[in-house]
Amino acid sequence: MDSVASTPWWAAGVLYQIYPRSFQDSNCDGVGDLAGIVARLPYLVDLGVDAIWLSPIFPSPMADFGYDVSNYVGVDPIFGTMADFDALVAAAHGRGLKVVLDLVPNHTSDQHPWFLESRSSRDNPKRDWYLWRDPAADGGAPNNWLSEFGGSGWDYDAATRQYYYHAFLSAQPDLNWRNKQVREAIYDAMRFWLRKGVDGFRVDVIWHLIKDDQFRDNPPNADFRVGMPPHAALHPVYSADRPETLEVVAEMRKVVDEFDARLLIGEIYLPIERLVAYYGHDLSGAHLPFNFALLSAPWHARGLAQLIERYEQALPNGAWPNWVLGNHDRQRVASRVGPAQARVAAMLLLTLRGTPTMYYGDEIGMRQVAIAPEQVRDPFEKNVPGIGVGRDGCRTPMQWDGSPHAGFSSAEPWLPLADDFAQDNVANLSADPQSILSLYRALLALRKRLPQLSRGDYQPLAAEGDLLLYRRHCDGGSVLIALNLSAAPAALVSDRFGLDGEILLSTAMDRAGERVGASLALRSHEGVIVGRAPEPVV
Ligand code: GLC
Repeated sequence: MDSVASTPWWAAGVLYQIYPRSFQDSNCDGVGDLAGIVARLPYLVDLGVDAIWLSPIFPSPMADFGYDVSNYVGVDPIFGTMADFDALVAAAHGRGLKVVLDLVPNHTSDQHPWFLESRSSRDNPKRDWYLWRDPAADGGAPNNWLSEFGGSGWDYDAATRQYYYHAFLSAQPDLNWRNKQVREAIYDAMRFWLRKGVDGFRVDVIWHLIKDDQFRDNPPNADFRVGMPPHAALHPVYSADRPETLEVVAEMRKVVDEFDARLLIGEIYLPIERLVAYYGHDLSGAHLPFNFALLSAPWHARGLAQLIERYEQALPNGAWPNWVLGNHDRQRVASRVGPAQARVAAMLLLTLRGTPTMYYGDEIGMRQVAIAPEQVRDPFEKNVPGIGVGRDGCRTPMQWDGSPHAGFSSAEPWLPLADDFAQDNVANLSADPQSILSLYRALLALRKRLPQLSRGDYQPLAAEGDLLLYRRHCDGGSVLIALNLSAAPAALVSDRFGLDGEILLSTAMDRAGERVGASLALRSHEGVIVGRAPEPVV
C-alpha cells in the first residue's frame, strides 16, 4: 500500500469481532443484542477500532448459536428487529465505524424452508440444493467423510431413503454449491445486506463450499493421535479446499464489487501456502483470507519470526496481509500465552504489516472461563466431551464493570462470567493508565498516527533468544519494534539495528519519550516501539 489515497479502509483499519450474544444485553434476557451493541459504540470509537464484525444475527434455531441460519435476510428476535439492525448501521456509520456481517453459506439450519422442501421428496425442485446420496452397498453412509463436530458427516433420511451430508451438526445440512440456483439465492441475500449499507462479509468456512464431485473417501491421517478431535482421523482432501471453490469465491467477490468499497473476508483454516490461494487468481478472490497462524503458533521469537516471514513470502503480488489473535472458536490469547505476554501479543498484532482483527474482550485481557459440565452450551463440546474442544470459555459475557452481572445484563447471563470480572473490567481498567486496555488504546492511537504502522513495509531484523525485532518503513521514515517474549530481561545493541529516536510506546506504558542510547534494555515481558515522535495532530 503506497499512499494514503490508494489505501482502502479495510487495509488501513482495525477490525473488531463482536460475539453478539455476549457483548451487551439491553432487554434483560441474559443474551446480548443489537440495541446493546448500539449502546456500546462510544466505547469502540474511544478504543480506536475502525470496523465491527458481528457473528451471525440471523433467524436461527441456535443449534450452533447462529451458525445454523433459517433465514438469510432477517434478524433473530433474540437480537432484535430489522429496525434495530438499521439503527445499528446508521449509528455505527454516524460514528465512522464500518459494519461487517457473518455470512454462513456452506450450510443452513435443518429448519430452513429450503431444507424442509429439499427433504420432503426426491423429486422436490430443491432436492439438489443439498447433498443427497444413496446409501452405500451395505446400507451405510455413502462415504467415510466425518463431521467436524464428531461422528459421520452423513445422516439418513428414512422417508426418502437417502443420506444428506453435513460438515458440522446434523442440524446444519451442507448446501450444494455446484447448483447455480443455490449460488444465486445466497448472492441475492448478500445484495440484500449490501443495499442496507453493510460494509462487507466474513464468510464462514469458505474453504468447505465445494466437495469432490465423485464423493471419494478421504484418506486416513497417519499423524492422528488420541486426544485429537475425531474428524482429524482423516485428511479432508475430498470434502474441502477443492479447486472449484476459488471460482465461487471469485463470484462472491464480484457481488461485493457491485457496491463501493465493500470487503470480503474468508474464514480459512489451512496451511499458509493453501490459504493464500484464496486471494484468487489476479486477486479476484477474498480481500482478506483470514490468517489464523497466530492462534496456534508456539510463542517463541524464532518460530514467530519464521512464521511471519513464511507468510510474507507466500503472499501473492499486491495481496494485503492480515492477522487474527483471537476468535469465538479458539482459546483466549491471555490464557494461551499468559497475561504478561498478552500485552506483547497486542503489540505484535497491532504492529505487524496487515489488517489486524481483535476479538472482543481481549483488550481487557479476558481469559478462558472454566465451564462446569452442567453449564456447557457449545454443541461441539456436547458431542465430543472431555478433550478440550469446548468453545464456551472464550464466549463469556463482556466485563464492563463490577456490578452483579458485570454491566452486561441485569439478568443471569447465558454463560457464566469470569471469576475475576470485579477487577478486570472496562471501568476499572480505563481508570488505570498502565492497564492492558490503556495499552490497546495507545497502540490503536499510535497506529492511526504513524503511517509506518498502518502502511509500512515489514523488514525482519532479528530473532535471537526470546527477542523478536522488526522494522516498519514508509514515507522515508521507519519505526522499530522490539518484543521480549520471555520473563528474563534482555538487551540489544542499538548500533547493530540502526536504532534512532525515542521510545514511542512500551507495553508497560511507562517509558514513552525515553531516548534510545547505545543499547536498549527490555524488561521482563516488555515490548517497545522506537521511532521519531509523530507530529502532534492539530
Ligand atoms: C465456523 C464458525 C464456527 C461454527 C462453524 C460451523 O468455523 O466460526 O463457530 O461452529 O463454522 O458453522
